[in-house]
Amino acid sequence: MVEGIKKIGVIGAGQMGTGIAQVSAMSGFETLLWDVEASSIDKSFGFMQKHLQRGLEKNKWENEFIEKTMNSLSKADSLNDFNDCDLVIEAIVENESIKFELFSSLDKICKPSCLLASNTSSIPISKIAESTNRADKVAGMHFMNPVPVMKLVEGIRGKQTSEKSFELIESVAKKMGKTFVKSNDFPGFIVNRVLMPMINEAIYALDEGVATAEDIDEAMKLGTNQPMGPLVLADFIGLDTCLAIMNVLYEGFKTEKYKPCSLLETYVSDGKLGKKTKEGFYKY
Ligand code: CAA
Ligand code: NAD
Repeated sequence: MVEGIKKIGVIGAGQMGTGIAQVSAMSGFETLLWDVEASSIDKSFGFMQKHLQRGLEKNKWENEFIEKTMNSLSKADSLNDFNDCDLVIEAIVENESIKFELFSSLDKICKPSCLLASNTSSIPISKIAESTNRADKVAGMHFMNPVPVMKLVEGIRGKQTSEKSFELIESVAKKMGKTFVKSNDFPGFIVNRVLMPMINEAIYALDEGVATAEDIDEAMKLGTNQPMGPLVLADFIGLDTCLAIMNVLYEGFKTEKYKPCSLLETYVSDGKLGKKTKEGFYKY
C-alpha cells in the first residue's frame, strides 16, 4: 500500500522533525528536511549523524546502513523544494496561525497528489485542513518523543480525510516500524488528552508546595512505574509546547479542568522552556 510514497518532506528541524526525518530515511524513504532557521537544519543533521554513529558502536547496524541513511537525506533551500514530495510531514512550532499559513503555502507548492500530515500535539486536524484546498489529503501523524525510540504514531483522521489518504498514512507509519493507533479529531487526541492534564497537575502540586520537583518526579517514577517523572518529562517535551497543548485543551473544551497552571505560564514567559533552553523545572 505504501507504493507511491517515495519522497517524504519534513518541515521543522527541531527535536521532532529531526527524529521524524531520521526514521524516514532509515526506513528507505528519500527525505528532505527544512526549517526557517538554517542553523537548525545543520544541527539536526549533526544530531542524526551522532545518533547513527552510536548505533554502530552498539552493533545495531553497519556502516553501510549509516551511509545509505545519510545519502537518503537532503537539506531543502526553501519551501519550493517540496514540490515533488509524495508526503510532507509538518513538525513546526505548536501554533495554530503559523501552521495554517504553512499548510496554505504547501497546498500551493506541492503536487496535487501529495499528502500533507501534521505532527501537531493537539490542534484539530480538520482546522488545519481548512487552510488547504485538499482537505481529503490532510491527516494527523502524531509521533512521540524521542521518535527513533517510541513505538507509537497516533493517526488522526480529519472530518474530510479520505479513507485512501488515511490508509496510506498508516502504511507509511508501519513501514517506519511504528504501531498506528487511530484517534478521532478531538483537541489533544488520545495521548495528550490524558498525559498533559497529569503534567499540569504535577505543576500545580509543585506550585502549591505539595513537594519538591525532585520528590514529585521520584514519587511518580517509582510509584507508578513511569520512565520519567512528569516534571522532567515536561522539560523534555518543551514547556512552550506543554503550555500550547494545555491552551488548545482549555479553549477546545472550555472547562476549568484544563486550565494551564500559572507557574507553567511564568516559566514560558521567562524563556525557561526546559531542556532545549537548558533550564526549566531543572537545569541542564
Ligand atoms: N533520540 C534518539 N534516541 C534516543 C534519544 C533521543 N533523543 N534519547 C534516548 N535515545 C535512545 C538511546 O540511544 C537508547 O537506545 P539503545 O537502548 O538502543 O541504546 C535508548 O533511547 C535508551 O536511552 P538511555 O539509556 O539513554 O535512557 P533511558 O533508558 O532513560 O531512556 C527515554 C530514555 C527513552 C527517553 C525514556 O526515559 C522514556 O521513555 N521517557 C518517556 C518518554 C515519553 O513519555 N515520551 C512521550 C512524550 S509525549 C509526546 O511525545 C507527545 C507530545 O505531543 C508531547
Ligand atoms: P521545537 O521547538 O524543537 O522545533 C520547532 C522547529 O520549528 C524549530 O526548529 C523552528 O525553527 C521551526 N519552525 C518554526 N516555525 C517554522 C515555519 N514556519 N517553517 C519552518 N520551520 C519552522 O519543537 P518540537 O518539540 O520539535 O515540536 C514540533 C511539533 O511537534 C509541535 O507541533 C509539537 O506540538 C509536536 N510534538 C512535540 C513533541 C515533543 O515532545 N516535543 C511530541 C510530539 C509532537
